[in-house]
Amino acid sequence: MDQYFKSYEELDIHQLMLSDKIRVLAYKTAIFNSKEKFQGKIVMDVGAGTGILSIFSVQAGAKKVYAVEANILAKTIEQVLKENNVHNKIEVIHSKVEDIHPDSLEKVDIIVSEWMGFYLVHEGMLDSLLYARDHFLQENGLLFPSIAKLYASPCQLRTMYEFWDNVHGVSMRCIGKRYREIKSIKPEVLYLNQDDLLAEGKLLAWLDLKCISTEELNLLGGDDYVSVCDKDGRYQGICIWFAVEFPDGSEMSTGPYDEATHWKQTIIVLPTDIKVMKHEPIAFRLNLKRNTLCPRHYNIEINLLDAEEVEHDVPCNCHLTKCIIIRTYIKDYTNNEDILPTKSHKIESNM
Ligand SMILES: C[S@@+](CC[C@H](N)C(=O)[O-])C[C@H]1O[C@@H](n2cnc3c(N)ncnc32)[C@H](O)[C@@H]1O
Ligand SMILES: [Zn+2]
Repeated sequence: MDQYFKSYEELDIHQLMLSDKIRVLAYKTAIFNSKEKFQGKIVMDVGAGTGILSIFSVQAGAKKVYAVEANILAKTIEQVLKENNVHNKIEVIHSKVEDIHPDSLEKVDIIVSEWMGFYLVHEGMLDSLLYARDHFLQENGLLFPSIAKLYASPCQLRTMYEFWDNVHGVSMRCIGKRYREIKSIKPEVLYLNQDDLLAEGKLLAWLDLKCISTEELNLLGGDDYVSVCDKDGRYQGICIWFAVEFPDGSEMSTGPYDEATHWKQTIIVLPTDIKVMKHEPIAFRLNLKRNTLCPRHYNIEINLLDAEEVEHDVPCNCHLTKCIIIRTYIKDYTNNEDILPTKSHKIESNM
């Protein structure tokens, strides 16, 4: 059994996940809000862990649930099911979902799964969900969750910078510089104070789980983004977070403005900082590329770009003259017409 599945044998990890109220209640609420969809239906729980989502599905009216779990916990789930008197409706399958023969099970109406990792796709479990979708889900079946979104925004990382400026009266800026160079090699997982977000999140990826392919997961983001600062501050990193949507329309979001979850936020540290002002545009290119040697991991690449050289949203509320002119033009236009031009177009830097 590979190290990935072994790590999920630790009960500490399950206690951490089960104590994450936002996480558990997001699933419970979405499942219970959809009782008419679960009533009398067959469900597959991909990566059942302790069996919690399988049990919610039965409580919502499912007639049968396949609780698929690759690691040894599968044995424990049987006991949890008996403890809750739902063992007649839930069949535990101790296997990787990829190892179940597609003809050995009837097609299911719904797949429930909690597959998200740090910055959404770390761990690569989404591949297993897509495998289950392609082999076991009815054509018009439902996925809980059904949509996943990835966001990024420039941010401040004050503790990583200010700490070294004055350590009990001693300046250690040179160590701070080295510290940040080391930190910038690997993403940090931490809770970002919402005051340290410099702009609203840019959507890096919008994944419709019903139809996305595994190949599309090899590269996420990849565009040039322009964030407009909503405050004065220091640009010291990029904060990445995700949200998922369920078929009932409910959403669970893991950003700095949301209630804390065990996923925290993922931060790319910049080794040197840049002073920025309210309405200043910050341009960057961000790629999340699957690591070919270790497909459960991604390489996150960031390129800092010149905001004058790249396309801005239209309208854009940054302080560059070209965007001010476009805003004025749109304002005049909408004073005369009711229709807003919404198309994004290239802003020439020699305007
Ligand atoms: C994030 S945990 C979620 C556990 C549980 N569903 C919950 O919400 O508390 C993911 C679980 O999926 C299992 N898992 C991951 N990939 C799997 C696969 N391909 N087949 C079966 N189980 C898998 C892991 O062993 C782990 O227990
Ligand atoms: Zn602009």
